[in-house]
Amino acid sequence: MNIEHKTVLITGANRGIGKALVDEALRRGAKKVYAGMRSPVQQPLTLDVTNGSQVQRAAGAVDTLDVLVNNAGIAIYDDLSSLEVLEQTFAVNFFGLLRVTSAFLPLLKRSKGAILNNVSLAGLAPLPMIPSYSASKAAALNLTQSLRALLADQGVAVHAVVIGPVDTDMNRGLEIPKAAPETAAAGIFDGFEKGEEEIFPDPVSQSIAEGPTRFRNRSRKAGVMAYRKRLSASSRHSCL
Ligand SMILES: NC(=O)c1ccc[n+]([C@@H]2O[C@H](COP(=O)([O-])OP(=O)(O)OC[C@H]3O[C@@H](n4cnc5c(N)ncnc54)[C@H](OP(=O)(O)O)[C@@H]3O)[C@@H](O)[C@H]2O)c1
Repeated sequence: MNIEHKTVLITGANRGIGKALVDEALRRGAKKVYAGMRSPVQQPLTLDVTNGSQVQRAAGAVDTLDVLVNNAGIAIYDDLSSLEVLEQTFAVNFFGLLRVTSAFLPLLKRSKGAILNNVSLAGLAPLPMIPSYSASKAAALNLTQSLRALLADQGVAVHAVVIGPVDTDMNRGLEIPKAAPETAAAGIFDGFEKGEEEIFPDPVSQSIAEGPTRFRNRSRKAGVMAYRKRLSASSRHSCL
């Protein structure tokens, strides 16, 4: 599927990767782009993914949809000592994604559309400074794969975006190479338009995806270990 002439909805679209995805979808000729935001400033869609009635209202305001991008996410530094942090993180990164997907699924089934879930390399290889985030992204990746199987015979394609470090507010101060949001957004839609189920859109994620295709593969493990090491050596006040 191509983005051109399609109707696209992106959550968490006011900044970071979400904002870059809005610009990239418009650049590729999308017919309409709904920019989901918690506090809209122009004419976007009010959409806090943890707020059930707001999600339902948003779904009621959209009449057709081809591509849903579940991009909204949070990352909080923790050490698993607080159940509250886990709950807060899962509320956005896992349940929010599922809530939005369920609300827009009737439209996507009608259009034989697609879902892109913005996961993270941390979902493949947990990072010790953000274990709740890592667990939520692993769960979101697993959920993406289940949705893919469940929706395959209904004509809805489900893609996982397994993304590495991108230069946004989420990891401000992290002293490692980061992709620009614009480059990440282009990589995400390139992978989508090529039909990749698991999209590795940036240089770091590509280095882990390349060669090995299975996590048990030793060289992929080595790549993941090197990635973790680089992150651990960087500031504790940043995350992805
Ligand atoms: N940056 C990275 O290195 C990186 C790496 C791997 C994966 N990711 C994933 O990419 C996605 C975007 O991250 P980013 O780097 O662009 O982060 P960001 O700059 O911190 O932006 C996060 C976005 O999510 C929105 N959001 C948070 N909670 C929300 C909620 N309850 N309902 C609706 N929107 C909500 C934020 O809205 P507000 O402005 O209202 O808070 C903001 O638009 C996330 O899922 C993140 O986990 C990022």
